[in-house]
Amino acid sequence: MAALAQAAVPRTSGLANVSTVAPTSRSAAPQRVGFSSNGLCGNVEALTAKKSAGFRVRDSAVVAQTVSTEPAVKEAKVSKKNEHGLVTNVYKPKTPYEGICLTNGKIVGDDAPGETFHMVFSTEGKIPYREGQSVGVVPPGVDEKGKPHKLRLYSIASSAPGDFGDYKTVSLCVKRLVYTNDKGEEVKGVCSNFLCDLKAGDKVNLTGPVGKEMLMPTDEKATVIMLATGTGIAPFRGFLWRMFFEKHDDYKFQGLAWLFLGVPTSSSLLYREEFEKMQQDYPDNFRLDFAVSREQTNAKGERMYIQTRMADYAEELWQMLQKDNTFVYMCGLKGMEKGIDDIMVSLAARDGIDWVEYKKTLKKGEQWNVEVY
Ligand SMILES: Cc1cc2nc3c(=O)[nH]c(=O)nc-3n(C[C@H](O)[C@H](O)[C@H](O)COP(=O)(O)OP(=O)(O)OC[C@H]3O[C@@H](n4cnc5c(N)ncnc54)[C@H](O)[C@@H]3O)c2cc1C
Ligand SMILES: NC(=O)c1ccc[n+]([C@@H]2O[C@H](COP(=O)([O-])OP(=O)(O)OC[C@H]3O[C@@H](n4cnc5c(N)ncnc54)[C@H](OP(=O)(O)O)[C@@H]3O)[C@@H](O)[C@H]2O)c1
Repeated sequence: MAALAQAAVPRTSGLANVSTVAPTSRSAAPQRVGFSSNGLCGNVEALTAKKSAGFRVRDSAVVAQTVSTEPAVKEAKVSKKNEHGLVTNVYKPKTPYEGICLTNGKIVGDDAPGETFHMVFSTEGKIPYREGQSVGVVPPGVDEKGKPHKLRLYSIASSAPGDFGDYKTVSLCVKRLVYTNDKGEEVKGVCSNFLCDLKAGDKVNLTGPVGKEMLMPTDEKATVIMLATGTGIAPFRGFLWRMFFEKHDDYKFQGLAWLFLGVPTSSSLLYREEFEKMQQDYPDNFRLDFAVSREQTNAKGERMYIQTRMADYAEELWQMLQKDNTFVYMCGLKGMEKGIDDIMVSLAARDGIDWVEYKKTLKKGEQWNVEVY
């Protein structure tokens, strides 16, 4: 396991409207990273100004980087699923771990469609997760049949050391589910509303950790392409903290990480401040592209979805996929998978390759990893 990490972002004032309690077990050494919603939304005006001046949002964030023509260094591949020390299902629904909410705050602007929260729970180190795993949450109360609520899964949004760097917390990024049913009634999702309403000091029943699909590649020189819609960003925040915000004795990222994040409005660009800081500090190792569906369009006037943005770099992405140390990860809305496949089908076809077959090979080599819902 890695040595203790040190966050590389200065402490900020923290979340607006945040509910916070100091963890009793917090280690004194590591700095806590600030992810203020002020910072997140503060850039919206600049973004809007750029837009009206005819710039595309991504232009401000991307530093051009060419694909290396050097052949990939072939390393003996060890399945990420057999990694030493990886654990699953330490806690189960009937015997959950009782965590305490340490902080919880909204991380999207007030004009964003829907509300998304970032929350940190204490674990005392008893849920030893890896980046890319998920936890279950068992909401209190009973369902309409009078049975205890079933657990809901949430991707972990922190790196293994957690937001405080002491391996004693787990963070989630949760969107509040509210919809109108056939009868015109407003319905609130059970677990997401329970989580988004938690205050510091409240208890939460956790299970897991679970999941092996979204584990990071161990290769420090890998190209890691991350495709996220909305809260699908959660596992990638963990990846990126490990790559760029932390110092580990056994891991120093020297490859290329490329994040595509699709959200409805610029006020819903999750963790934007953190990602832009990483980009600023590691311009040769981190590329960042946003697809803001309700504010941007492509040349044909179509809504800017993540796959629309990827199409801008189609050739480059296809070249990257030829390397056997390129790893693609997809997380978020189910619909994105087909959209991305559609692009890949046409790219592969140009080289006479059947994408469906090619994807199978990539999946087998753990180079194409999908968790959508
Ligand atoms: C592996 C995995 C990871 C996940 N990670 C995250 C994460 O990081 N963050 C996150 O926010 N969520 C995540 N989810 C989703 C999460 O598990 C819950 O499904 C979500 O929070 C909703 O749960 P709920 O209890 O609030 O809603 P519920 O009370 O369970 O209600 C959901 C149900 O409401 C109905 N419904 C929903 N929307 C509509 C609609 N528009 N019209 C009509 N009916 C509707 C559907 O029947 C749906 O099954 C993840 C899911 C999986 C499988
Ligand atoms: N591990 C997992 O499986 C995992 C983890 C986290 C989250 N999730 C799931 O991911 C989803 C994220 O939802 P959210 O509410 O957080 O997101 P959101 O804020 O609504 O953002 C989703 C973005 O994707 C766009 N979009 C809609 N349809 C698309 C399509 N077919 N292809 C590509 N982009 C599309 C949306 O555009 P418009 O709305 O403007 O059309 C919007 O810009 C939830 O369903 C959540 O349960 C899964």
